[in-house]
Amino acid sequence: MTEQRAVDPDALKMFSFGVFSKLEGAVTAGMIHLGDRLGLYEVMASSVEGDSSETLASKAGLHERWVREWLHNQVAARIVTCADLSAEHPIYHLSPEGVAVLATPSHPAYGMGMFHRLPQTMAALEHMPEAFRTGVGHDYDSHGPEGAVGIERSFEPWNQNFLIPIVLPALQGVADKLKAGALVADIGCGSGGAALLMGKTFPLSNIEGFDISQFALERAEERKAESGINNVSFFDPRDHAIADDHRYDLICTFDCIHDMTQPTAMMKTIRQALKDDGTWLLVDIKAQESLELNVSKNPMASLLYGISVLSCMSSAMSEPNGEGLGTLGLSAAKAESMALEAGFTKFRKLDVDHSVNAFYEVRL
Ligand SMILES: C[S@@+](CC[C@H](N)C(=O)[O-])C[C@H]1O[C@@H](n2cnc3c(N)ncnc32)[C@H](O)[C@@H]1O
Repeated sequence: MTEQRAVDPDALKMFSFGVFSKLEGAVTAGMIHLGDRLGLYEVMASSVEGDSSETLASKAGLHERWVREWLHNQVAARIVTCADLSAEHPIYHLSPEGVAVLATPSHPAYGMGMFHRLPQTMAALEHMPEAFRTGVGHDYDSHGPEGAVGIERSFEPWNQNFLIPIVLPALQGVADKLKAGALVADIGCGSGGAALLMGKTFPLSNIEGFDISQFALERAEERKAESGINNVSFFDPRDHAIADDHRYDLICTFDCIHDMTQPTAMMKTIRQALKDDGTWLLVDIKAQESLELNVSKNPMASLLYGISVLSCMSSAMSEPNGEGLGTLGLSAAKAESMALEAGFTKFRKLDVDHSVNAFYEVRL
């Protein structure tokens, strides 16, 4: 018989509050998705004097009653501000910080990408019981075309603000090679934001993007056609294998090794594809070495472990023999030992400060 343990009434209240605050976060995240999708934050960002629910609804072309209820959620969640909630027609504002995070795609703190793909991420819950039973997850294409757009929107602020001015110059000799004309592979390139940016910045170089997501590759081709950039090409490595003849000067993997079913084999492929004096730029989530450290040092650990189940680890387990690293599965020590095992001899953490990612220069 199960032993009945006494319930402390105060601890019970605190525990229930903790559990329901997670539901509050999930539902408010849905409201943030709507604010982004309906253009409400964009309209609010353009209004210095603020808006009533009536003016906001009219500017956004929406029904006032729905906008008003949404605003009530946003004020209660401290996302939108309102100086006088008791006014007959309260006036709502976005703070400058709110404008940066919610409505300025070029700002480094812009965060709407993850919210863009929230419906697809949460829809993965439908497949989860089966994945937990069989062990087999789902790749990025299971999130549909909007999943690829969400990933694109998540990475674009980083690409625009960090890649060219900060990260590439931190790699030994790489910026000069790119200026003079180099061959680059961006493996796990998603919808091609980083590849296109490198192509545009370094017209004498050639950039090859590889990804297994058809939705991401379609989006990459669309963006390439819109941009007119012609030194960038995109491939599915299952149709056009990554060459193993030491031809690349630079290989980049941006936040994707932990998503791969076979990261060990991929590192060996990268080793064979790089020139002897080439560089692998490994960017991956800033994971600690253990669950204990992740939980104690990273206030976002529960978010990241949850995203892992719904997206990253699911992708890394999307074949029966997947290695299943997952979102927090590639700590610095793990990445270094895997890289050395794959035949690399030099592994250096770059001095780049980023809230989510760690940056490594890996060489032969
Ligand atoms: C989190 S996304 C990162 C996308 C991209 N690097 C960016 O910055 O937008 C991970 C990507 O890795 C891709 N991926 C997973 N396994 C792969 C593999 N074996 N080869 C190439 N790409 C892969 C996924 O399809 C997905 O587009």
